[in-house]
Amino acid sequence: MNLGAKDLLGIKEMSQSKILEIINKAQEMKKVLQKGDQTTLPLKGRTVITLFYENSTRTRLSFELAAKYLGASVSNISASGSSVAKGETLIDTGKTIEMMGADVIVIRHPMSGAPQILAQNLRAGVVNAGDGMHEHPTQALLDMFTMIEKKGDLKGLKISIVGDIYHSRVARSNIWGLLKMGAKVTLAGPFTLIPVGIKELGVYVADTIQEGVRDADVVMNLRLQLERQKTAFFPSSSEYGKFFGMNEEILRLAKKDALIMHPGPVNRGLEIQSALVDGPASMINEQVLNGVAVRMAILEMMLGGETH
Ligand code: CP
Repeated sequence: MNLGAKDLLGIKEMSQSKILEIINKAQEMKKVLQKGDQTTLPLKGRTVITLFYENSTRTRLSFELAAKYLGASVSNISASGSSVAKGETLIDTGKTIEMMGADVIVIRHPMSGAPQILAQNLRAGVVNAGDGMHEHPTQALLDMFTMIEKKGDLKGLKISIVGDIYHSRVARSNIWGLLKMGAKVTLAGPFTLIPVGIKELGVYVADTIQEGVRDADVVMNLRLQLERQKTAFFPSSSEYGKFFGMNEEILRLAKKDALIMHPGPVNRGLEIQSALVDGPASMINEQVLNGVAVRMAILEMMLGGETH
């Protein structure tokens, strides 16, 4: 089983069958993780570099651990501590990393399209670990993996994505992926944070958070991305929390067995009540674990033995 492409840049262009192949492979990898048996080392002799121009805890560390668990060599570069800070271009940085032996470069960048530019200019594989407000494909894959584990099938499920949709690459990748998998996607948030034209993708936009969450199988809360907000999208953070924060009363409108998800990092008490983050419906810790399994699956499918 291989990825069928040199790079993993987004979910928009990925087929339903490829999404399922990655999730099936992630299920295998999760069993390896849970047994604590990372002894097969299928990526021995391979090199993975993470190149992050934005902050990250989950994505960067999970790629690093995934590469290590599979036996690859791995190094991390942050823009602030590298020659990027001296003005080196993205392509020159990529070529430099490639000449040092990188087989795969995992990149996060504030500019939408940066991973595509790198992929077009390098022989090494490129994985998009989040580009601007565009895509975060490995997050959507781990989210869909988590939903399938708990619900069995995505077909016909109501998935409510709530909060700062406008700035969210997680929302875009999930919308593309979930619709391909046959789920019904509803969005809810302040109208200033709902992208113009998003309905054309095939989602339903609710008028209120209560309408959006009603009868949902999964409620995915998004982080309020204050760092990307150059203008005021709402009067104040406390008003946002009051009118759009997820709380127990709103969760009661969803199905009894509804899952709460959040890609992290969480602003506790702002977009979601702290009790829900730690409550029985919360999948947030499971999402973190599944992130390692999904990234192991992706690296193995890009670099694993049978494909080379
Ligand atoms: N979900 C996510 O991308 O988290 P990090 O920013 O910590 O990688």
